[in-house]
Amino acid sequence: MGMATRVPFVSPTIFSPNQFHKHCCVAQGSFSSSLLSHATRRNNKRFIGISVVAMAHSSKSTVLVTGAGGRTGQIVYKKLKERPDEYIAKGLVRTEESKQKIGAADDVFVGDIRDSESLAPALEGIDALIILTSAVPQIKPGFDPTKGQSPEFYFEEGAFPEQVDWIGQKNQIDAAKAAGVKQIVLVGSMGGTDLNHPLNNLGNANILVWKRKAEQ
Ligand SMILES: NC(=O)c1ccc[n+]([C@@H]2O[C@H](COP(=O)([O-])OP(=O)(O)OC[C@H]3O[C@@H](n4cnc5c(N)ncnc54)[C@H](OP(=O)(O)O)[C@@H]3O)[C@@H](O)[C@H]2O)c1
Repeated sequence: MGMATRVPFVSPTIFSPNQFHKHCCVAQGSFSSSLLSHATRRNNKRFIGISVVAMAHSSKSTVLVTGAGGRTGQIVYKKLKERPDEYIAKGLVRTEESKQKIGAADDVFVGDIRDSESLAPALEGIDALIILTSAVPQIKPGFDPTKGQSPEFYFEEGAFPEQVDWIGQKNQIDAAKAAGVKQIVLVGSMGGTDLNHPLNNLGNANILVWKRKAEQ
């Protein structure tokens, strides 16, 4: 990934690129620079306009996986960790229990996507965000699989798809944009445009409708 910063610079002195580097030190760390110059004449003096294009060359991309304790999130977080030459993987989970479940590394943050402020530390300095959070339906008590019944589902108070899949996903996207994150991958579900999809009846919570709203 590369980031280009243009720094316009006008000097009455004409520098060669080498001299310019002696005067203006912009090449630091993993940054390199190239110069674009043009000459103009004003009041019989020659001015050189120089733009410094600084490119951030980093071979590694820092990626935050949210819902990193979930079924898909765990796999994605692990896969990124297996490629340390390409990625610096970070995770966001909702609870300490989830953090323990995926190894409790320092790069796993605990935060709640319904609370924008709790996301800031995890988003700091990342290049890409992969959203794998989801409202988690619970099976109603009394379900007995041995009786050939179908389970009934419910969502915990405050953890309905409206709060998690709509507000929570929107919070992540807004916070990532504010933090300058360059890429966002939102993992959704098929059937988002089908109002009559059976998943919308699950827990009477319109799960696909709210996921779709976040995509839009
Ligand atoms: N699994 C599939 O077959 C499949 C197929 C197609 C699409 N998808 C999509 O992929 C996404 C992830 O699915 P999944 O099956 O991996 O989900 P999942 O196993 O239910 O995991 C969802 C994760 O979201 C986290 N979460 C819930 N509320 C949160 C909150 N308020 N703050 C922070 N984290 C919160 C949960 O954390 P805790 O564990 O701490 O509660 C959980 O780990 C969903 O959008 C789903 O629709 C999944």
